[in-house]
Amino acid sequence: MQSETRKQLLKLFTEAGDTFLSGQKISEQLGCSRTAVWKHIEDLRREGFEVEAVRRLGYRLKQMPDKLNANELQLGLKTKRFGWNVYDQESVPSTQQLAHQLAHEGAEEGTIVIAEEQTAGRGRLNRIWHSPKGTGIWMSVILRPSIPPQQAPQLTLLVAVAVAQTIQEVTNIVPDIKWPNDILLNGKKVVGILTELQADPDQVQAVIVGIGINVNQKQFPNDIASLATSLAIETGRTFHRPKIVQTLLQKLEQLYEQYLQHGFLPIKLLWEAYAITIGQQIVARTLNGAVRGTALGITDSGTLKLQTEDGAIHYIYSADIEI
Ligand code: BTN
Repeated sequence: MQSETRKQLLKLFTEAGDTFLSGQKISEQLGCSRTAVWKHIEDLRREGFEVEAVRRLGYRLKQMPDKLNANELQLGLKTKRFGWNVYDQESVPSTQQLAHQLAHEGAEEGTIVIAEEQTAGRGRLNRIWHSPKGTGIWMSVILRPSIPPQQAPQLTLLVAVAVAQTIQEVTNIVPDIKWPNDILLNGKKVVGILTELQADPDQVQAVIVGIGINVNQKQFPNDIASLATSLAIETGRTFHRPKIVQTLLQKLEQLYEQYLQHGFLPIKLLWEAYAITIGQQIVARTLNGAVRGTALGITDSGTLKLQTEDGAIHYIYSADIEI
């Protein structure tokens, strides 16, 4: 289908919501015959759109395809900048790797790289991130804040808040955040976030935020089954992934603008409201060994503050946390 007509038709359908549109009305709006309208609708159906047709009432759009491509993501997207430059891929080694390359080449802020499958998805501390085809959201977002590199951990926490808000909105369940940015449902990990920098000594050039959300998986490989979960497993429902990405981009853009205008404090408060680690006895496994103590909170730069039994305060920049 010609992309302009397709766009117009989809716009009409989304604006109409649950209301039926008559073939007559659609043909007037698109400036084509009713036979042409019918052909366009058949094309949409072939692409995976579910279009209901009822005699005398007309047509309405019941379901959009669960595909993570620019068309689906941008239809009804309410952001100003985030998600308007999209690199959608069927399969990539890692969206993070491609986003790094694009950022080096000057890609604008808010550019996203998204894939149906990653064959070499990466997690924190060089772990593998399981990214099977068509079930989750594997995405990297390019940000270009004017901040010194030391402040970048704040963005990690900002992204965790945006993801937590998104999950809360789409599932009605309040997730937990485990410092710095694991998102948990019922104690199991449902989202992983990887924040990486391209920076000069005193200035960030780009922040590449990798977000992996387990959405519609029904099961996980044995080695991670006791640690990982998905939105579908926790709720018994399946989710439309483009809608989740749209919600996430909107929350991310809002929080990011708030951060640039008002600094980290409002974000810190939001983060603390989701955090489970604070006030609890935890073990922080760092590259230099384990520290056991009470998590007192996070500092204004996003570092974890831990008090050991002898009263000493430790500042943790990077670690795995056990509760
Ligand atoms: C973690 O270890 O918790 C972070 C996991 C981050 C996974 C995402 S999926 C999209 C992006 N591409 C990658 O290769 N990794 C991140």
